[in-house]
Amino acid sequence: MNIVQGSAAALPNDGFDVAAVRKDFPILATLVHGKPLVFLDSAASAQKPEAVLRAMDGMYRTAYANVHRGVYTLSDLATARYEAARETVRRFLGAGDVSEIVFTSGGTDALNLVARCWAQAFLKPGDEILVCESEHHSNIVPWQLAAQATGAVVRPIPVTDEGVFDFEAYAAMLGPKVKLVAVAHMSNVLGTIMPVKAIAAAAHAAGAKIVVDGCQGAVHQTVNVRDLDVDFYAVTGHKIYGPTGIGALYGRRELLEAMPPYKGGGDMIETVSFERSTWAEPPARFEAGTPMIVEAIGLAAAIDYVEALGIARIHAHETDVLDHATRLLTAIPGLRIIGTAPGKGGVISFTVEGAHPSDIATLLDQRGVAVRAGHHCAQPLMVRMGVSATTRASFALYSTRAEAEALAAGVERAMALLR
Ligand code: ALA
Repeated sequence: MNIVQGSAAALPNDGFDVAAVRKDFPILATLVHGKPLVFLDSAASAQKPEAVLRAMDGMYRTAYANVHRGVYTLSDLATARYEAARETVRRFLGAGDVSEIVFTSGGTDALNLVARCWAQAFLKPGDEILVCESEHHSNIVPWQLAAQATGAVVRPIPVTDEGVFDFEAYAAMLGPKVKLVAVAHMSNVLGTIMPVKAIAAAAHAAGAKIVVDGCQGAVHQTVNVRDLDVDFYAVTGHKIYGPTGIGALYGRRELLEAMPPYKGGGDMIETVSFERSTWAEPPARFEAGTPMIVEAIGLAAAIDYVEALGIARIHAHETDVLDHATRLLTAIPGLRIIGTAPGKGGVISFTVEGAHPSDIATLLDQRGVAVRAGHHCAQPLMVRMGVSATTRASFALYSTRAEAEALAAGVERAMALLR
């Protein structure tokens, strides 16, 4: 790949060799409009390393059969690999037991599972669900649906102008009516890392449960659900360098045990008759039908890959690229960064005077730079920040300082053209 690596070589990165890492991702060698791809949309979906591609291909070639059903060798092998993938997710999230890990089709599916099987099952009219106002739609709409079904009420927890979780306002909202608090570990628009441990402690002190959307957060920092002391934690595969179509929900065991099934079908039952069916124990209770077998193997391979690189080293590298990009963009007159919380993760959303975010993104694409523009599935946050849309660059373990420079140069050029 001929994206410049010069400035990356000077990183204080604890031996993190981004040039070598980039070779693990075949797609990064792509040319776009004749220019080297500068992929800065990993918050939407990250690219996949060879290790993931190989694991999935190998599974189909050598170990594929349906799981939990056969008594033959190949099915036993596929089942062992599928359950080993669950153990990998358990270890990654720091859960106490594999029965607390439910495979889902993604982060959205995991949050909907909690909304349907916990919130709809246990909330009563007048109960309150507190949802941070910076959430993306996957962590708002499921709670609205649960509220419609139960008579509960959804109330937004404010963020400050910098995009910081307003803990004082949150504490004042807590009370006996609050039964659930929903918050992302890291905002997909602002990059803010939310103080999940403190939010969970306050929720529990008020008698509420907490559900965390970890789709961005788990990619960029070490997660331990027991240390955070959360009740539910949702992750998705495709943002952590794994495949689409797979995610996982951590749920505290006693909560999962009390919850009714999510979908009906094979594998989630204990017995079935036309008079009455009974349910399997978690996690099988929530995994009806043939699961995402090969996708689970791909997710486990992605987790092994990031753990082998070291999540703390990845975080340090991404922070360096983020800081470099922030310095460069901040120096551009007329550019406003939306989300300036201290210690934020690798996302920069911005607006520029006199230009629409989509036009900036289109002109960046002409230079090979891929960014997202729009409301980022977070319309209430756009309203809160007083914008209709932003351009968003998001960084990953394969991002470089040189790419941050390509972004800034591209934005300046686009601004000159559009003014
Ligand atoms: N939530 C994803 C994003 O931020 C889709 O782009």
